[in-house]
Amino acid sequence: MAIRVENGVFQLETANTLYQMKADAFGVLNHLWYGARTDCCMDYLLDYPDVGYAGNIYEAGDKRTYSLNTLPQEYAAYGVGDFRIPAVSVTHEDGSSALDLRFQEYHVRKGKYGIPGLPAVYADENDAETLEIVLKDTATGVEVVLLYGVIAQADVITRSVIVRNNGTTSIVINRAHSLCIDIPYGDWEWVHFHGRHTMERQVERVPLIHGIQESSSTRGTSSHQQNPAVLLCEKGCTETEGFCIGAALMYSGGFQTQVEKDQLEQVRLVMGINPDTFAWTLEAGACFHAPEVILSCSEHGMGLLSHRFHEIIRNHVCRGKYKLSGRPVLINNWEATYFAFDEEKIEKIAKQAAELGIDMMVLDDGWFGKRDSDTSGLGDWFVNETKLKGGLGRLVERINRMGMKFGIWFEPEMVSEDSELYRRHPEWAIRIPGRNPMRSRYQLVLDMSNTEVTEYLYQVMSQILRENHIEYVKWDMNRSICDWYTRTLPKNRQMELPHRYILGLYGLLERLTGEFPDVLFEGCSGGGGRFDAGMLYYCPQIWCSDDTDAHERTFIQYGTSFFYPVSAVGSHVSAVPNHQTGRMTSIRTRGTVAMAGSFGYELDLNKLSPEEKEEVAGQVRAYKGYQDLIYNGFYYRLSNPHEENRCIWAFVSKDQTEALVQGVVFRAASNTLRARIRLAGLAADAEYRLTESGHVFTGKALMAGGVLLPVIQGDDVSVEMHFRQVQQ
Ligand code: DGJ
Repeated sequence: MAIRVENGVFQLETANTLYQMKADAFGVLNHLWYGARTDCCMDYLLDYPDVGYAGNIYEAGDKRTYSLNTLPQEYAAYGVGDFRIPAVSVTHEDGSSALDLRFQEYHVRKGKYGIPGLPAVYADENDAETLEIVLKDTATGVEVVLLYGVIAQADVITRSVIVRNNGTTSIVINRAHSLCIDIPYGDWEWVHFHGRHTMERQVERVPLIHGIQESSSTRGTSSHQQNPAVLLCEKGCTETEGFCIGAALMYSGGFQTQVEKDQLEQVRLVMGINPDTFAWTLEAGACFHAPEVILSCSEHGMGLLSHRFHEIIRNHVCRGKYKLSGRPVLINNWEATYFAFDEEKIEKIAKQAAELGIDMMVLDDGWFGKRDSDTSGLGDWFVNETKLKGGLGRLVERINRMGMKFGIWFEPEMVSEDSELYRRHPEWAIRIPGRNPMRSRYQLVLDMSNTEVTEYLYQVMSQILRENHIEYVKWDMNRSICDWYTRTLPKNRQMELPHRYILGLYGLLERLTGEFPDVLFEGCSGGGGRFDAGMLYYCPQIWCSDDTDAHERTFIQYGTSFFYPVSAVGSHVSAVPNHQTGRMTSIRTRGTVAMAGSFGYELDLNKLSPEEKEEVAGQVRAYKGYQDLIYNGFYYRLSNPHEENRCIWAFVSKDQTEALVQGVVFRAASNTLRARIRLAGLAADAEYRLTESGHVFTGKALMAGGVLLPVIQGDDVSVEMHFRQVQQ
């Protein structure tokens, strides 16, 4: 049993970790431990200091050292004397906000709980268990149900929360975070992922300051600027050593991660829907379901933690035909043509791609409505016959006849004011009556909480997918959302819209991915603006960034790799000079970088020299040969591009018989030693042959002594070394 309850202690055991909590004599649920397995009840670590201005619950009588403000809480509520960041806060009918949560009951079940309308980790009955702990505010009857999913072999615990209004009057939920975890001891740093459009998920690791630090989004999407994933590391934690905890929120809307270091140096981490763009009226008898957090920890550094997240996301979050299988190598026309194409141009690109071994042609933005620039056409999902003269069906057939699959781009959640859809249904766009809406990329956002809108989108999209042999959909979303207002809700409930938008989006994705299980859905939001575990439940890959510059991509993919598996990372070779940075890099370097992902091309291959075309054909062959290793092997970060003159990574097969080291050395230097790189994850006692030279090394030597990188001439030079275990 992964979940055991002994002497009032709740123990969640995974293969290598232990999570413990206990309700004390007052029914307060104390968090006891999250870390390595200890085979011991950890309540001896609870301390009861006499801290000035820390209040005491009434029943504690004259025990002035018993305080919610100093005890590690499993789920901290607002208004009852814990002055740290709360996980939950509500307003009652009388205007008061206290929520005094005490233990009521618990239930243990086989299998993993699901969450109505929201993505959640799934697992077979035998691979997971669920613990439900019910906490109650007796004065009002409001209950908070804490949900724990234990996927023992994966070393993962999931958390979610249900707020149940068992009272007789409605309440307003001001915040209902999915995760609250208190860590009383240790010297902690946090790692979060910040960025911008075309430079997502930059790693920032900083010591905690006293007070609250936050990473969040109020943009209606998980955003380019911050990512809903966070690491807490003990000082000195490296890729291979030291303790760290990771949490990833399965949610694609505005989120909030807060970390507080309090007056006693204790740390609290909370994570969930961003309360700045949220308030939810809960009628008597109703429930609210918060999204899920995936939680894991590692005693052996961040590399192992990443493996755990990669495995759980790949095996228990992603779904559908392409979840574990190889993916087609694709060519996308966006950077090749932007809006200026016709069927002839597309067919020419596809023909050349087919000759080089590429599997799928993806037709990006501009194939529909009046769409010659980004000022018009969104919402009009019918083919633009000026560009595609014979219609979509004929183009698909022709591409298929070349032996290629066909994929297509949609931006379903958006509408242009200059579109037939907007002229017909201006009321479907999110905007506040009496105000001009904020435009972004000239477009407005459709109200995804309105079922008329989602029904329309389902009808048009499913018809296109039914009538044409389309095997891939790129689901784009190109702006942040504001002007929150919906006709579907009364005025006192408008703050529900950001979350209802996400529920509408997920509902539509569920319907379409369910009806078209053979279609590969790739998520996108101006690149990686909605790169989160929620989207990965519907789309097993997401376009990682609109920055296709190989040099900058190494930083973006480095940051992405902390939580998200390589198979989830859409990555393409594009033209030089690079369209985002103007940088020149060789076709080989661009290929190496794009191979650390779901591989493709995004340029007019006809413009390449014969030598470059040969290189492309070789890359496609190599990728197909390595795809299993890249997707199913363990991914190792072998250098930190923020600190070193290189970004090097490796894929090691799970049976440790094969390793592929890839990367980029940024700047050449004269009169210097070659750089040395240490491998990881090999069988120490085995021997490995370097394919390129035939040289044989022991696993121990490669991991302790490392290997010298080739002599580098020029900047941004690709490195690739393949090792195979020598069979004894
Ligand atoms: C943003 C995406 O990230 C690009 O790849 C491309 O699809 C454009 N949108 C099209 O408008």
